[in-house]
Amino acid sequence: MSRVRNYRSISKPAIWIWLISALTFYLLFLMASRNSTEWSISNAEQRSRLYEKMEKDLEDHGAAFLKQGETTQSLSLSDLFILKDGAVTPVLKAANPPVRANVLYLNPEYSVPIADAVRSIFSPHFDKAIWFQNSSLYHFSMFHGSHHITAVPASESEIEAEANAVRAVSESICPLKITLDRVVLTSTGVLVGCWQVDSGSDPVTIRQKLRNALPHAPAKQLYDAVMLHTSFARLLGHPSSWLEEANKVSELQFFHELVSRLNNKIRGTKATVGELWYVEEYDILALALDGRMKVRKFQLGCSKV
Ligand SMILES: *[C@@H]1O[C@H](CO)[C@@H](O)[C@H](O)[C@H]1NC(C)=O
Repeated sequence: MSRVRNYRSISKPAIWIWLISALTFYLLFLMASRNSTEWSISNAEQRSRLYEKMEKDLEDHGAAFLKQGETTQSLSLSDLFILKDGAVTPVLKAANPPVRANVLYLNPEYSVPIADAVRSIFSPHFDKAIWFQNSSLYHFSMFHGSHHITAVPASESEIEAEANAVRAVSESICPLKITLDRVVLTSTGVLVGCWQVDSGSDPVTIRQKLRNALPHAPAKQLYDAVMLHTSFARLLGHPSSWLEEANKVSELQFFHELVSRLNNKIRGTKATVGELWYVEEYDILALALDGRMKVRKFQLGCSKV
């Protein structure tokens, strides 16, 4: 009897302690699970971090393009261009098999003012040593069905099937409202616009849908899944003049100065993207270098923006 009584007298406070701890634990658990969505990093935040890293690239690695840089696609820039009759001319090399790229397209309504700003700031200082991306071909590279690192050959009917699968994807994607987050100059000399998404389908979702639609595509793609970027120009050599009046400005500082002038002018530019292109590039980097290609254009079908 005494043992039972003893047990009871201990158990009463013990039950209360148990209840209180269980309740506390449960409340903490609730708080933690509610916060975990805030703690996990959003695509937008990941994009900002990636762009910050890209912005530092020039500082960290110097202007590698002045010493035979490589592009993001591991091609040497000096192999891409020659001076012909005093004009910078791309050296087009056949892509075999053709590269199959899926890109979002930036309408000239938005690209032309950007291209004008880029030209007005960079042209005076780079006589021939610059290549400007054609403003009717500004694009955001999303996903490759085949690229020059991992070639995935396809027959004509397989290409037709791929294009149809991409058309179906385009119908489920919502037009993107985007804002130019910043312009960066990479150590390989590419002037890149980095964009943030205000509304519409996220690039992560778009790439995932394209991957599902194109099961034979290379597992390793060329760009980070969160990235939304478009190339504006490629610097090919030293500036012909720089702020000599200041006289103390290094070449690298001068590059930073030009990029910052461009940012002051076009950062915050807003655009709406409503087209997905399925592009067969018959020349390497055809979209960037005005090479030969075949384009199928699809309107983004979802009407939500
Ligand atoms: C720019 O691209 C458009 C469309 O492909 C083409 O018609 C035009 O000739 C290109 N411009 C230059 C300078 O290559």
